[in-house]
This record gives sequence, structure tokens and C-alpha cells, in this order.
Amino acid sequence: MSGDRNEDPYGWDERVKAWEEVEATDAFQAIRDRVCELAEPRAGDRVVDLGAGLGLLALELAPRVAQVVAVDISQRMLEQLELRAAAEGVENVLPLAADLRKLPLEDSSVDLVVSSYAFHHLDDPGKELALAEARRVLVPGGRLVVADMMFSLSLEPRDRRLVLEKVVAIARRGPAGLLRIARNAGRLLAGRWEHPTSPEVWERMLVDRGFDAVRVELLAHEAGLAVARRPAATGAEAPARGARAAASGR
Ligand SMILES: C[S@@+](CC[C@H](N)C(=O)[O-])C[C@H]1O[C@@H](n2cnc3c(N)ncnc32)[C@H](O)[C@@H]1O
Repeated sequence: MSGDRNEDPYGWDERVKAWEEVEATDAFQAIRDRVCELAEPRAGDRVVDLGAGLGLLALELAPRVAQVVAVDISQRMLEQLELRAAAEGVENVLPLAADLRKLPLEDSSVDLVVSSYAFHHLDDPGKELALAEARRVLVPGGRLVVADMMFSLSLEPRDRRLVLEKVVAIARRGPAGLLRIARNAGRLLAGRWEHPTSPEVWERMLVDRGFDAVRVELLAHEAGLAVARRPAATGAEAPARGARAAASGR
């Protein structure tokens, strides 16, 4: 699947350069490090990075695991990711142009799913579809670590503080910043703004999609990290494995 403008309303194909600057900031390097720490990567892990972009997570995890599938809707992001991987001598990252809401991956084929700053581009039903896909492709007991903007446009004190901080930071950039605020307000009114979601909604979505060991960790700024696990094999699944072992004579 290529980066179709209808499915990529923010035009990520055109934002490669801008994103290079953002992901190089201390805040994003700290998010990357914390995701990798919480993910507890193991040498045999098959990993999927959802909305991999230029490879912030994928390229960091690749040397520590068996394979990383880097999924992104933007073909140009993936092309840059491939160039970076080649420059770094990383050979176990597979770029996959696809929508997070419909992963062309087999059931129970992945040990670890990670993601950074991709989910707020999906509305909440879209996030739930992507989480259901993540659970489907994870093996029983497989892990999920997602970093994203975690706040909502509510009157709660944390939400109000974060929105105000964002507006002030953008306004400080002068006329260009003010123009951006006006554009964002227009997008918000047109229902095309990004879709950050509160920590409480993240927890509920993960539980509703059948994850367990769910917890959310908030960072100092807008970011939060959701950690969860696909439940280990149930009693119903376990005998099937035993039956296979018996059939193979073990
Ligand atoms: C803000 S960038 C984050 C990139 C990278 N994870 C990082 O942290 O540097 C968001 C990425 O998500 C991708 N994306 C947005 N919506 C998507 C979707 N529905 N399916 C797949 N990728 C998507 C964009 O193309 C973009 O590369």
C-alpha cells in the first residue's frame, strides 16, 4: 500500500525534513529511551513498530532483537528509514507501507509491539482498531509499549496546563507561530485536528481490547507511555499446544 493522501490527512510524505528536527530533540530521545527500557527487548524478539516514521524506535531496537517490521503509511518516511538503516549497517528492519488499522501481518506472529507518537493521528475508534490489530498479531504473553500525546481538550487541570503550555510555546515563534495556532484552531473546528487521548481513555481502550497488565506512565510534558500485554495462553489454548507436542511424539 502506498501513502494515499486520503488515508494520510496530515501529508506525512511532505513532512520528512520537519520530523527529522523534532525526533532529534532531547524530549524525543528521552521518549525513545523509555519505550526501549519498558519494552525489555530480547534477542529472539520479532518486533513491530507502528507508525515507525524515520525509525526512532525501530533502529534503536533492531540491534537488540531478531527483526523489526517498521509499519508506516508514508512511503517517503519508509524510504528515509531504509537509507538510515543502510547507513547504520542495520539489516533486520523491514519497512512495510500499511495502515495501522489493518495490519497485513499474521495472527500471533510478533513478540513485541512498540509505537511512538503515531496514535494521536487516529481518532479514538481508529486507535481501538489499531489496538485490536496489535493484539491480534501479538503472541499470547506478547508485550505492547506505546508512547503518545496523552491529554484531552478538557477542563481538567493537567489538560488545561498542557494546552496552555503548547499555545504559549507556539505563540513565542512569532507570526509563524500565530499562524499555526490559527490553522490548528481551524483544524479543530473542522474535526481534522490531531486526536490526543487522556491516560484514562488509554487504560480503558487497552482493557476493552483484551490486554492485561495495563498501566500508563506520564512524563513531565504531554507524553505518556501505555504498557500492556496480550494475556498468556488461556486454558482453552494450552491443551491445543499439548496436543501438538503429543502428536509430534514429545
Ligand atoms: C509523528 S510521526 C512519529 C514517527 C516515529 N514513530 C517517531 O516517533 O519518530 C507519526 C508517523 O505515523 C505515521 N502514520 C500516521 N497515521 C498512520 C496510519 N493510519 N497508519 C500508518 N502510519 C501512520 C505517519 O506517516 C508518521 O510517519
